[in-house]
Amino acid sequence: MLIDAHCHLNDEQFADDLAQVIMRAHDVGVTRLINAGTNVELSQAAIEMADRYKSVYVVVGIHPEHADTWNDETLEAIRKLAAHRKVVGIGEIGLDFHEAWKENPPREMQERALIAQLDLAAELDKPVVIHDRDAHDALMAILRQRSGKPQGILHCFSGDLAMARQAIELGYFISFACNLTFKNAARLQEIAKELPLDRIVIETDAPYLSPLRGKRNESANVVRVAQKIAELKNIDYAVVEHATTQNSEMLFGLKIDK
Ligand code: NI
Repeated sequence: MLIDAHCHLNDEQFADDLAQVIMRAHDVGVTRLINAGTNVELSQAAIEMADRYKSVYVVVGIHPEHADTWNDETLEAIRKLAAHRKVVGIGEIGLDFHEAWKENPPREMQERALIAQLDLAAELDKPVVIHDRDAHDALMAILRQRSGKPQGILHCFSGDLAMARQAIELGYFISFACNLTFKNAARLQEIAKELPLDRIVIETDAPYLSPLRGKRNESANVVRVAQKIAELKNIDYAVVEHATTQNSEMLFGLKIDK
């Protein structure tokens, strides 16, 4: 039994065969999927999807690439959406300072949206799902000011071992995505090997980061992340399966048949 702690099922790449994608995940033991919204509309759409699929849960929030939509109105919209019974956290929120991505809103705008959503999550007592691309120092500075509350995951972790350890000390979990299985991921694999299993969760970030380059990723592939962690740590697959599932269940308050 596995949990895909982060995916984007509302992506248009899943528009034609979502039911089969979810079925294939179930077939390999992925019993719950956490679908991340990235703006108000997609968070709403993610909730509607979760109403149709029992195994799908949701996090709602404004992604840094949409930080220019952050205002009092979107805050209230996210707060309202967060009250739905299948919403298990606030996300995907964070910082994206990637230089090639010229459409990114200014840093101050991203930081404002992140801080406000961290506060909202704390107020609602919900965990956060954090996106961080090329923004490690700025992110850690913000998280450090809010030590430990709210808890959450650093999704698709891309920092170094020292950063991972600091985040864990602040109460966060480190989430490894399918890029852990890439041939050029030696650095990331070294980090996964070092971190304690009780602070690791696993995800696909589907449809992105496919282990089969050039193909669409899907939630069934979270099995490959678990297998890679077992291989790196030289422990049984079942141990990784049990620990990562328990971590996600605890963090997101997931119980079977909820
Ligand atoms: Ni994502």
